[in-house]
Amino acid sequence: MLAGKRILLVIGGGIAAYKALDLIRRLKERGATVIPVLTRAAEEFVTPLSVGALAGEKVYRALFDLTDEAEMGHIQLSRSADLIVVAPATADLMAKMAGGHADDLASTLLMATDKRVLIAPAMNVRMWTHPALQRNLAMLAGDGVLTVGPNEGDMACGEYGPGRMAEPLEIVSAVEAALAAGALAGRHIVVTSGPTHEPIDPVRYIANRSSGAQGAALGAALAGLGARVTFVTGPASVPPPAGVHVVRVETAAEMLAAVEAALPADAAVFAAAVADWRVANAAASKMKKDGSGKAPALNFAENPDILATVARMDTGRPGLVVGFAAETDDVLAHARAKRERKGCDWIVANDVSAGTGIMGGAENEVTLVTAEGVESWPRLAKGEVARRLAARIAEALA
Ligand code: C5P
Repeated sequence: MLAGKRILLVIGGGIAAYKALDLIRRLKERGATVIPVLTRAAEEFVTPLSVGALAGEKVYRALFDLTDEAEMGHIQLSRSADLIVVAPATADLMAKMAGGHADDLASTLLMATDKRVLIAPAMNVRMWTHPALQRNLAMLAGDGVLTVGPNEGDMACGEYGPGRMAEPLEIVSAVEAALAAGALAGRHIVVTSGPTHEPIDPVRYIANRSSGAQGAALGAALAGLGARVTFVTGPASVPPPAGVHVVRVETAAEMLAAVEAALPADAAVFAAAVADWRVANAAASKMKKDGSGKAPALNFAENPDILATVARMDTGRPGLVVGFAAETDDVLAHARAKRERKGCDWIVANDVSAGTGIMGGAENEVTLVTAEGVESWPRLAKGEVARRLAARIAEALA
C-alpha cells in the first residue's frame, strides 16, 4: 500500500524510540523506503546499527560530516521524501519545530522540507499536559503538521495517562492516510450507519445495539480523503461526523429510499445495522393493556435488504459496494457466503460475540473479504479501521 513511497523517519530521543524499530519494519512490509535520521539523543536509546539494518538504508546522524553533505545535502534529503515522520516526537523536538530552530540535522531537515510532516508525540504525562507543550502542539497544528497519538496508558516512568507513543500500526495508518490525502477528491460515497428503529406503535420500536461508531468513523475517514460523503444514518448514539452530508432516517424502508435518492455514487459502504424485520401490524395509536392479560401478537414482515438491492442494480450500481458482516460464530464462512449472496464486492467481517466488546465499544477487529481473498487486520481503534478501509477504497477507485 506504500509501494514506491519514501519516508524520512526522524527518530527522537525518548524511551519510545524502540517502537521506531518496529515502525521501520511495518513501513517496509508495505513497500515503503525508510530513510532514518537519528537525533543525538536518539542514539542513547537505539543504535544506528540496528536502525540501519532494519531500514536497509544509510542512517543519517546528528553529527553529519562533509562526506554526507557531498552525497546528499540536507536540503535535498528534506525534499526527497514523500512524507516526514517524527517518531518519537519528544517535547524538545516539538519545541524546536514550533520555534523554528535548526541547530542539528533533524531540526534543520524539518525546517527545510517542503513536504508534509507527521509527528507521533511520546513523553511523560506531565510534560504532555504542560501548557508550553500544548502551546507548541497548537502552533504545529496551525502550521499543518499532522499528529498521531499519543495514547493513554501505563508509562515507562511508572505514571499513567496520555503520553504513550501511538503503536507502530497506528502510525502506519496515519502515514497511509497522510499520503492518500485528497485521493478521493471528486468522488461521491454513500455510507449507511447506525441502527434502524422499526415502530411497534407510535411510542415503541424494535432496535439493536449498534452505536453507529464504526460508520461515523468511516464517514469521517472518507471525508478526510476528500470524498463527498452522503451519510445516511439511523438513530445512532454517536453523532455524525463533520464534513459530510447527513440524511437522518428511522426505518429500513426510509434508509433504502434515502440511499436510492443519493445515487449515483462511486462507492457505497453499508455499515448500518439494519433490522431484518419490521412489524407488519404496527399500531397507529399507542397499544394499551386491556386488562384481559392477553399479550398483543406482533406480525413481522421482511425488510428490504439495502446492500443487496444496491449491489444487484442493473444500472447505476456504484463501482464499489462494501457490506459489513457482524457475526457471532463462523465469522469467515458466513462473511464469504454473505458476499456471494448479496452480490457486493467486499465484506468487512467482524465477531460481535458478547465477550469481544466490539458492538458499542471503541475497537474493532475485522477481516476484509474480497474477490482476491481474505485479509485479517489486528484489533484496532474503530478510527484506525476506518482510515485503513478508506485508504483501501481510495486505492480501489484510483
Ligand atoms: O444480513 P446481514 O444483516 O448480516 O448483512 C449485513 C450487511 O448488510 C451490512 O452491510 C448491512 O448494512 C447490510 N444490510 C442492509 N439491509 C438490510 C440488512 C442488512 O443493507 N436489510
